[in-house]
Amino acid sequence: MATLIRGGTVVNADRAFRADVLCEGDKIVAVGPGLAAPAGAEIVDAGGQYVMPGGIDPHTHMNLPFMGTVTQDDFFTGTAAGLAGGNTTIIDFVIPNPQQPLLEAYHQWRGWAEKAAGDYTFHVAITWWSEQVHEDMGTLVRKHGVNSFKHFMAYKNAIMADDETLVKSFRRALELGAIPTVHAENGELVYQLQQDLLRQGITGPRAHPLSRPPAVEAEAANRAIAIANVLKTPLYIVHVSCKESLDAITRARAAGQRVYGEALAGHLIVDDSVYDHPDFDFAAGHVMSPPFRSREHQKALWQGLQGGNLHTTATDHCTFCAEQKAAGRNDFTKIPNGCGGVEDRMAVIWDEGVNSGKLTPSEFVRVTSANAAQIFNIYPRKGVIAAGSDADIVVWDPAGSRTISAKTQFAKGGFNVFEGRTVKGIPSTTVAAGKVVFHRGELRAVEGAGRHIDRPAFVPTAP
Ligand code: URP
Ligand code: ZN
Ligand code: ZN
Repeated sequence: MATLIRGGTVVNADRAFRADVLCEGDKIVAVGPGLAAPAGAEIVDAGGQYVMPGGIDPHTHMNLPFMGTVTQDDFFTGTAAGLAGGNTTIIDFVIPNPQQPLLEAYHQWRGWAEKAAGDYTFHVAITWWSEQVHEDMGTLVRKHGVNSFKHFMAYKNAIMADDETLVKSFRRALELGAIPTVHAENGELVYQLQQDLLRQGITGPRAHPLSRPPAVEAEAANRAIAIANVLKTPLYIVHVSCKESLDAITRARAAGQRVYGEALAGHLIVDDSVYDHPDFDFAAGHVMSPPFRSREHQKALWQGLQGGNLHTTATDHCTFCAEQKAAGRNDFTKIPNGCGGVEDRMAVIWDEGVNSGKLTPSEFVRVTSANAAQIFNIYPRKGVIAAGSDADIVVWDPAGSRTISAKTQFAKGGFNVFEGRTVKGIPSTTVAAGKVVFHRGELRAVEGAGRHIDRPAFVPTAP
């Protein structure tokens, strides 16, 4: 079955040009002007629109067991919502419980992901350390297409990695040609500040950002960067939310260190005034870590993206409904941390980034797919419109608009941090593995159609 996308402007990270795009099976087979449609091909009219690589969200949590509950979106509903938003690949996280064998957790997640409607691949979290973990990291890289390991520097008494684990795991990742990634927050400081706030009787969602100020994030970012520097490993810092962490990345890069930073669509758009809202459900709906920050930090994040010190945009899609968030009604530390966004990332970043002139369309492609594909070693299979690449494409209507609402979204959870925002610039068609899976509001996601994408190890730096 062939699909011909006709009459649009192809936008890659390096340039934009007028061309048709022909897909056969799950691959792009030709990109050029005036392509003929094979018999029986599905024709997508892209006149007046951009034709871009399908979005890659490098940070999602579908079906995640977390803080005593499980996210609302599973791999089918979450990836389907992603397709509706122009995303064709997610990078999710295998998060073993402390003491759980890595391979057991990995196979558990692979099982859950079988129902995915879009392509997926996994970072694996290192939540504890032993000789077996050291061994299993090797098996994951050599046999299972994993080339990134995640370290939560927060979530004390749960999945937090201590310094010994960070050092041993970073070193092992380097040996294997894999990249370490971190959630940078000092978990001990968070824990102590939480206890202080509870003792003072400050128990509502407003306490959440007070327990996780920018300095707490910056300490961990600087520590992870220092460890990576000593061990000579690259480093990817997820959900950079504040100027202080960005400054740490900028300094390290200026000194020649290979450090990458990820910004979340939520952190770029939503500010911390949400925690002052008198309605518990509203404020708790925004409880995620790191928390939303003030406008000053948002401005810095945009400048980081523009200046090339932040590289990817993600969502940390992790949906909990109001009933789940209510577990923390009398104690903010029990509100499950997480918000959605996979359906809206591309549109809000286009609207706030491209429409305002902060990003060009090519820069948009860079931060929504190409850089993630390159950093996590699936380029040029993903992240570019070119012959031989996967036929993962979003046709982008720059004149279309939509008002975002939990009432009309495909994602589960009944909440949306971008609620009420009208965006100009929306996906009109999403093609995944050569098939039209979303067209003008109609979702044609197929359970199980998504594939696991192996990510090869990086060439080790030393023989
Ligand atoms: O609050 C968040 N971000 N929840 C998901 C887990 C994580 O820290 O990424
Ligand atoms: Zn995190
Ligand atoms: Zn996360």
